[in-house]
Amino acid sequence: MNLKRIAAEKAVEFVEDGMKVGLGTGSTAYWAICKLGELVKEGLSIQAVATSLASEKLAQEHGVPLIPFAKLDGLDLTIDGADELDHQLRLIKGGGGALLREKIVAFHSKQLIIVADESKLVDTLGTFPLPVEIVSFAMEWTMDALRALHCKPMLRTDEEKLFVTDNGNYIADCHFEVISDAEELQRRLMGIPGIVDQGLFLGMASKAVIGHSSGHVNILE
Ligand code: 5RP
Repeated sequence: MNLKRIAAEKAVEFVEDGMKVGLGTGSTAYWAICKLGELVKEGLSIQAVATSLASEKLAQEHGVPLIPFAKLDGLDLTIDGADELDHQLRLIKGGGGALLREKIVAFHSKQLIIVADESKLVDTLGTFPLPVEIVSFAMEWTMDALRALHCKPMLRTDEEKLFVTDNGNYIADCHFEVISDAEELQRRLMGIPGIVDQGLFLGMASKAVIGHSSGHVNILE
């Protein structure tokens, strides 16, 4: 059973005709985009924006209508995945490297619905390394500043080259193991020049739709 798929398809049930919808990134959001494509073919009318070049391409392939940002004054809802979520709907995102675009789109959405399989639900964030998007200028100093926060930052690579985000930046995956105070960590990270954004999404998700191996889907709010 594909838990990501059942969660994503359940979340798509919240999309109503005429809505403006943000399309997330990753292997769970993938299923939401496919399902939206099917519904659009059956007559659903939506206007969408994508959170990555990969999701933009997928939406085009599946016939989901993409609208320029300048033509929309915000979104009704966004459906996106997460790398970890806790029971307060605090998230770690950015495993796919799209955290900055995902956060911008989520910020301008009335609702952010997270779709995930049960393995993503945790009591305390931090086992998944926190993705931090950094600019290349003086990045060694930015990495030092990250180390000073008591984590092990690793520059993300892709086929032995540095991974480059859709925005032309790098990702430092920061191994904290346990994030005991996510709000304080966010505050400290965002105080470091050179960090464009980081993968903690706090107070942003309105719901999480979780697929379980028993075949049922539950919704956390
Ligand atoms: C991409 C993300 C993804 O939503 C996150 O990595 C989850 O991905 P997947 O659904 O493939 O497990 O934040 O930047």
